[in-house]
Amino acid sequence: MIDIVPSLLSADFLELGRQVREVLDEKVTRLHVDVMDGHFVPNLSMGPHVVRCLKPLADEYGAQLDVHLMVTDPARHIEAFVEAGADILTVQQETHAHLERLTGRVRELGAEVGVAINPATPLALLEEIVSQVDQVLVLTVSPGFGGQRFLGWTVDKIARLRRLLVDRGLEKVTIEVDGGIHRDTIGSVVGAGADRAVVGSGVFDGPDTIAHNLRRLRDAARAAAESSQQGTDRKHGER
Ligand code: DX5
Ligand code: ZN
Repeated sequence: MIDIVPSLLSADFLELGRQVREVLDEKVTRLHVDVMDGHFVPNLSMGPHVVRCLKPLADEYGAQLDVHLMVTDPARHIEAFVEAGADILTVQQETHAHLERLTGRVRELGAEVGVAINPATPLALLEEIVSQVDQVLVLTVSPGFGGQRFLGWTVDKIARLRRLLVDRGLEKVTIEVDGGIHRDTIGSVVGAGADRAVVGSGVFDGPDTIAHNLRRLRDAARAAAESSQQGTDRKHGER
């Protein structure tokens, strides 16, 4: 079953503590923190201080802080985020010519490491680094803002990444997808083989409660998983 990872970018910051507790009460195991520098992406968001404030609450529930660095110079910030309590730090492939230095540094500091790719970045650019990371984050929108429309053509990339990991015996590397995931789009990423779906507006926006939104997302994901399992069973039955 795919894990839903709420993106705090869409939370109400006046109510942050209460809303975080609400998602944690729904047994969410990770919180996604989007860090934007107004340079790599047009928007500005949050820094290590927010991670530091979230840490005791995440620890109380045994949840991980999943920090996604959408910044031009991630090397400058890695240490501050790990020190503040990031459990997993994901850097964008497009930002660094020597990615292995970054991933190595994150590990040295004691955190898990991920690499993210923008929608238009070819999967081939991850082929060498994929064995060095704990997760690959596939962006399914052009990053920078919550509430954007899911780019359907990224689904094929998720499926190809899943095949690449299987072919290389790297099943321990997880696939996280991020952007535009709602009840009507989660099925396609489940079918393509994603392990985790980051969801911002689909969890925090709209008239319904956070708990209700999470349950509806999980129902949609479960239905998609069951129908893709049935499809596989039928295919095997035909042989
Ligand atoms: C993309 C960010 C996402 C974003 C997702 O700019 O990395 O994490 O907050 O938000 P939704 O789910 O609203 O697309
Ligand atoms: Zn993100």
